[in-house]
Amino acid sequence: MDLVTAILTRHSTRDFKSDPISKDTVMKIIETAVHVPSAINSQPWNIYAAAGPAIEKIRQAYIERHEKGVMGKGEVSGTPLNQMPRSVLERFDEMRAARMKLIGLKPEDPSSGKVMALQGARLYNAPVLLVITMDKVMDKMSLFDLGMLSQNILLCAQNFGLGSIVAASVAGHPDVLRAELDIPDTQVIAIGICLGYINTSSKINTYVSGRRPLSETVTYKGF
Ligand SMILES: Cc1cc2nc3c(=O)[nH]c(=O)nc-3n(C[C@H](O)[C@H](O)[C@H](O)COP(=O)(O)O)c2cc1C
Repeated sequence: MDLVTAILTRHSTRDFKSDPISKDTVMKIIETAVHVPSAINSQPWNIYAAAGPAIEKIRQAYIERHEKGVMGKGEVSGTPLNQMPRSVLERFDEMRAARMKLIGLKPEDPSSGKVMALQGARLYNAPVLLVITMDKVMDKMSLFDLGMLSQNILLCAQNFGLGSIVAASVAGHPDVLRAELDIPDTQVIAIGICLGYINTSSKINTYVSGRRPLSETVTYKGF
């Protein structure tokens, strides 16, 4: 698959088939993906890969928390929604409503949020979870490096015919991830990535997110 096709055809997968992915494939994806730039070639990432009984234990713990109404809280916190610029919130609302309507949920119904959250708790039914961490002493700049690595992982997965999603929700219960994947306290858990074959008969996977017009985001001078 050529690079432009991979970039343009990648979309977040929110319902995977349960078919397993071999360790060999996961290793090939990671081996390729690590060829990203990183500040001072720091390569600050650690990648914890879970499949089989390891991911099932995590999934079970996440579902139990969801059923008890325990909200996830990641270790890399974002700006609280109510402090975000209005334009960002509008985009979020639009995306959330469109995804809910696709699967027959009413965006104005508070229980719809719980249904969506359950998808995250189920790790989108993925057979493979990658948890990306870095040493706690590394700062925000290193999150760029982890972001670049993450995008490379998604594109490499695409190249192997796999779907993917990078999601804060799957890193939302760090204590569970630490216990199941032996992640030491010296590491901060930044983000999670789910990989697997795309369930093509699932409506949620037909959602394609829009992009802001370049006239709004790019300023050219001197051309
Ligand atoms: C840092 C980060 C965190 C994300 N967290 C979530 C999440 O918790 N749940 C979710 O459904 N999608 C999550 N996403 C996926 C975005 O919603 C998605 O990338 C965006 O809507 C654009 O859609 P696309 O990936 O299909 O192009 C996250 C993406 C990034 C980069």
